[in-house]
Amino acid sequence: MRDAYIVSAVRTPGCRRNKGALAQTSPEKLIVQALNGAIGRAGIDKGEVDDLMLGCSFPEAEQGLNIGRIALQMAGFPDSVSGATVNRFCASGLEAVAQSATRVMAGWSEVCMAGGIESMSIVPMGGNMPRPLASWAKESPDVYISMGVTAENVANRYKISRELQDEFAYHSNMKAAEAQKKGYFTEIIPTVADKFVEKSDGTIVCETFVQNFDDGVRADTTIEGLKKLKTVFAALGSVTAGNSSQTTDGAAASVIMSGDAVKRLGVKPLAKLVCYTTAGCKSDEMGVGPAYAIPKLLKLTGKKVEDIGLWELNEAFASQAIYSAQQLGIGDKKYWAYDSPDKIININGGAIALGHPLGCTGSKLLATLVANMQRLGVRYGVESMCIGGGMGAAALIELCE
Ligand SMILES: CC(C)(COP(=O)(O)OP(=O)(O)OC[C@H]1O[C@@H](n2cnc3c(N)ncnc32)[C@H](O)[C@@H]1OP(=O)(O)O)[C@@H](O)C(=O)NCCC(=O)NCCS
Repeated sequence: MRDAYIVSAVRTPGCRRNKGALAQTSPEKLIVQALNGAIGRAGIDKGEVDDLMLGCSFPEAEQGLNIGRIALQMAGFPDSVSGATVNRFCASGLEAVAQSATRVMAGWSEVCMAGGIESMSIVPMGGNMPRPLASWAKESPDVYISMGVTAENVANRYKISRELQDEFAYHSNMKAAEAQKKGYFTEIIPTVADKFVEKSDGTIVCETFVQNFDDGVRADTTIEGLKKLKTVFAALGSVTAGNSSQTTDGAAASVIMSGDAVKRLGVKPLAKLVCYTTAGCKSDEMGVGPAYAIPKLLKLTGKKVEDIGLWELNEAFASQAIYSAQQLGIGDKKYWAYDSPDKIININGGAIALGHPLGCTGSKLLATLVANMQRLGVRYGVESMCIGGGMGAAALIELCE
């Protein structure tokens, strides 16, 4: 197999569903900017791209039809560039990266793009008209279970206390706030956003502004404040708005190419996608997915936990992120606390602070991971997430010299 080089990886900011800066911007406009940002940073002609795989968890309404192809046309790519939409729920964006990379590795493409899009403001989680098969829902209701309930199940079954979840959430916000202050989010492309404004004569006009930061980060978070929040998914549970991932709007994209294309186009690759894998688990504790997918990834690649310098473990919920880290032997606070010199997990904060725009997240985390690997000179990084329905996905990324 050939190598698959990541030549650029960018993202829009992640902004709060309904309350945030991107709530009135269509998903098409978000992904178009991510695609143009990625190709711009790669510094190649749009016509060089063979195909785009675009992750989306609820590919319907404004982000429906085949947004993977439509977005390319809107972004001014020539007709020759094909595109598809892929869905593996929360891993859709990473699945897209893996599918594009695999195509390059197999020799079927020289240059591909991958990305993810989710406007959770415009298309709600679950979709506009979910239609579970009634007979199957009766026989196996867990298949359609609420994600928050699975987080409660993980907390209860594996004894992840509310206290620990809140502490993890606090550190996620602190890391994100510090990363913002220090300008570490170099993967963000300033994004033009729409806002509909009512004028004094009663007419509504669409105004635009540029958003260049994640607007869900709560730098003023305290453990005491988190402690006071009511549980959301179970009266006597432990999962709150403070220790869950935020629902978010965002898009991300990357350019992936072969070694031959790297030479021919004279570009400098950032990293390589070494391996990607997925694993299944019980639907009613889907959050444990990374605890299966990551060991599988390490076995496939002959790597050990100690070989990995940076981890992006998606924080769907604090309970499942903590449990997954514990299973890997890196659950100790020193690996994720913002003020720890040994921190290696979600060093710029995770989805609790920065948001989890479902189908975009896999591509978003890739952009963040690669930027951090570049900044710190870390050779190997792993990105992983749990997936609704009961799965985990994981990818190994290697820095290019
Ligand atoms: C948990 C959930 C229902 C909360 O939704 P929400 O009420 O819209 O959440 P918000 O982020 O707006 O927070 C609500 C309130 O909690 C409080 N809060 C949240 N985070 C806080 C923090 N760090 N410190 C103090 N208070 C906080 C605030 O009062 C906030 O209200 P405000 O926005 O007016 O300040 C939603 O975030 C959710 O469903 N998350 C999981 C998404 C999911 O399942 N994804 C797929 C995973 S597989």
